[in-house]
Amino acid sequence: MTAKHLQDTTTLYNGVSMPWFGLGVFKVEEGPELVNAVRTAIRHGYRSIDTAAIYGNEEGVGQGIREGLEAAGIKREDLFVTSKVWNADLGYESTLKAYEESLRKLGLEYLDLYLIHWPVEGKYTEAWKALEMLYKQGRVKAIGVSNFQIHHLEQLMKETEIKPMVNQVEYHPRLTQKELQAYCQENGIQLEAWSPLMQGQLLDQEDLLRIAEKYQKSIAQIILRWDIQNGVVTIPKSTKEHRIIENADIFDFELSAEDMQRIDSLNQNHRVGPDPDNFDF
Ligand SMILES: NC(=O)c1ccc[n+]([C@@H]2O[C@H](COP(=O)([O-])OP(=O)(O)OC[C@H]3O[C@@H](n4cnc5c(N)ncnc54)[C@H](OP(=O)(O)O)[C@@H]3O)[C@@H](O)[C@H]2O)c1
Repeated sequence: MTAKHLQDTTTLYNGVSMPWFGLGVFKVEEGPELVNAVRTAIRHGYRSIDTAAIYGNEEGVGQGIREGLEAAGIKREDLFVTSKVWNADLGYESTLKAYEESLRKLGLEYLDLYLIHWPVEGKYTEAWKALEMLYKQGRVKAIGVSNFQIHHLEQLMKETEIKPMVNQVEYHPRLTQKELQAYCQENGIQLEAWSPLMQGQLLDQEDLLRIAEKYQKSIAQIILRWDIQNGVVTIPKSTKEHRIIENADIFDFELSAEDMQRIDSLNQNHRVGPDPDNFDF
């Protein structure tokens, strides 16, 4: 069933609840803008924050979380926090160490979701075994991957014990990832969209503008609603309070099947980020 409220959750295959909607903080540097954005989002009802070791902002995210929890009068358990192990740390011992370092910077006792950031060939299996260990020890609520194509998932599932609970990938109307989504669905892996707004590059697209006018919503809201109706978790980034509010205000309308189709048809298999089958970092 499609989410009806900003705090509605999807249930991962291991039973953990994950909010359909959250805040991303890629490219937001340490400092007051970051702390404010995280605090503001939580105050306005966001219950999920997505960061990564490579963003270099886990300390500020932690600060924003502490301030946000206080401002909203909620507890740590009410929040869903994600971070990711960077490529340079992929390996059994190094991944375990990276997890501790992320926790230390965030000032948290546990993460709700820890992801392998990129599928570096020859490295992700050992890193996954570390994530499995953290999960079995109860140190992390859920484990998953990011930027994994079907063949990466197949390889991982062949060589390891626990199936990823989440796959976070680039996903927006120019990159609809139908095959990957179907595969994840068949395997009980929750798909999550990064750069859902195509980093702001879709916000004057004419077909989307027509749909936005029809529902009296912004293009950003139309795209984010399309994510949710497609069963995809979404984590748009903004540091501006009015956009943090706007992006989350998508639970009071429903896109028709015809408009969902129209948005799907904008697909061009076009990426704004690196190709998971051809990257060199
Ligand atoms: N796993 C991965 O490899 C990976 C890669 C990339 C991103 N991510 C995650 O996904 C999150 C989201 O992706 P993203 O940050 O790349 O891009 P995005 O969310 O698609 O777009 C963010 C851009 O759109 C602008 N924006 C946001 N809301 C808007 C609105 N309502 N109207 C107009 N402009 C708006 C933001 O500017 P302002 O801040 O000025 O509002 C920012 O420039 C990241 O922050 C990160 O947490 C993960």
